[in-house]
Amino acid sequence: MKDYIGTIVKNEKIAENIYAVTFALEEDVKVRCGQFGNIAVGGTHLLRRPIAICKMEGREVTFCYQIKGEGTQILKTMGAGTRLNVLLPLGNGFYVEENEQKIALVGGGVGVFPLISVLREYGATKEIAAYIGYRNKGAVCGVEEFGKAKRFVAVTDDGSYGEQMNAVQAFVRDVENGNRPDVVLACGPTPMLRALKAAVEEENIPCYVSLEERMGCGIGACVVCVCDLTNGKRARVCKDGPVFNAKDVVL
Ligand SMILES: Cc1cc2nc3c(=O)[nH]c(=O)nc-3n(C[C@H](O)[C@H](O)[C@H](O)COP(=O)(O)OP(=O)(O)OC[C@H]3O[C@@H](n4cnc5c(N)ncnc54)[C@H](O)[C@@H]3O)c2cc1C
Ligand code: FES
Repeated sequence: MKDYIGTIVKNEKIAENIYAVTFALEEDVKVRCGQFGNIAVGGTHLLRRPIAICKMEGREVTFCYQIKGEGTQILKTMGAGTRLNVLLPLGNGFYVEENEQKIALVGGGVGVFPLISVLREYGATKEIAAYIGYRNKGAVCGVEEFGKAKRFVAVTDDGSYGEQMNAVQAFVRDVENGNRPDVVLACGPTPMLRALKAAVEEENIPCYVSLEERMGCGIGACVVCVCDLTNGKRARVCKDGPVFNAKDVVL
């Protein structure tokens, strides 16, 4: 992990309220899917903003971000040529065992973005089914990437794109129809992960979830990001995660 200076190559809108920013780095960086970067957006913001690494192509790294508050508002205004500090790669990332051939991706909200990096890393060697939930048609993004999966089920909260259901419901329906994966990798809002955890426990399917706690340092020093573990201990999402075995975390 290192604090790189990234030069923005492009920063453009890809869906309603969602942007993709690509930085050129000064050197090659090796990343694993599910890892993240901590971007110094400047302004009055002392704290950096953690964003999942969506793509790493050569020396160019792309992050997709939803506009939430001041930090992402500032980032949205930055054009090509702007130089920012980006700490990366951070966190453990997703890891798939060799004997796990069939992967199910279950994602919603900003949790969609780290799952794109899984497709890029494992798409050629594993059989991937993606169950992705969007708020509505305007929020749909990543279709080109997820379309490369063996199976891609896009659903929306309001039924304006795909069926009206959530990603966990779409996943459970497929499992009930006999499409059982060897492992599930997921990222999304906590209620979604909680429902998924209950579903996979019932079916006895291994499941790894990426958590999105609020963060400070991003490197394990400030303890802003702790989460509760089922063994009564606590873990730092930035350093011990953000990916955890679903059975080990309290959701
Ligand atoms: C490991 C990790 C990976 C992430 N990856 C992505 C990504 O790929 N794309 C993306 O759009 N976002 C991602 N996020 C969330 C992102 O960090 C926050 O949305 C961002 O920091 C908000 O900054 P802001 O200054 O715009 O908003 P703020 O002013 O800081 O906050 C605005 C609102 O968003 C809420 N908020 C802020 N951070 C979080 C958070 N981590 N979880 C839930 N609510 C939050 C605040 O409570 C507040 O209500 C990730 C977070 C983590 C921890
Ligand atoms: S953000 Fe500082 S310890 Fe995790």
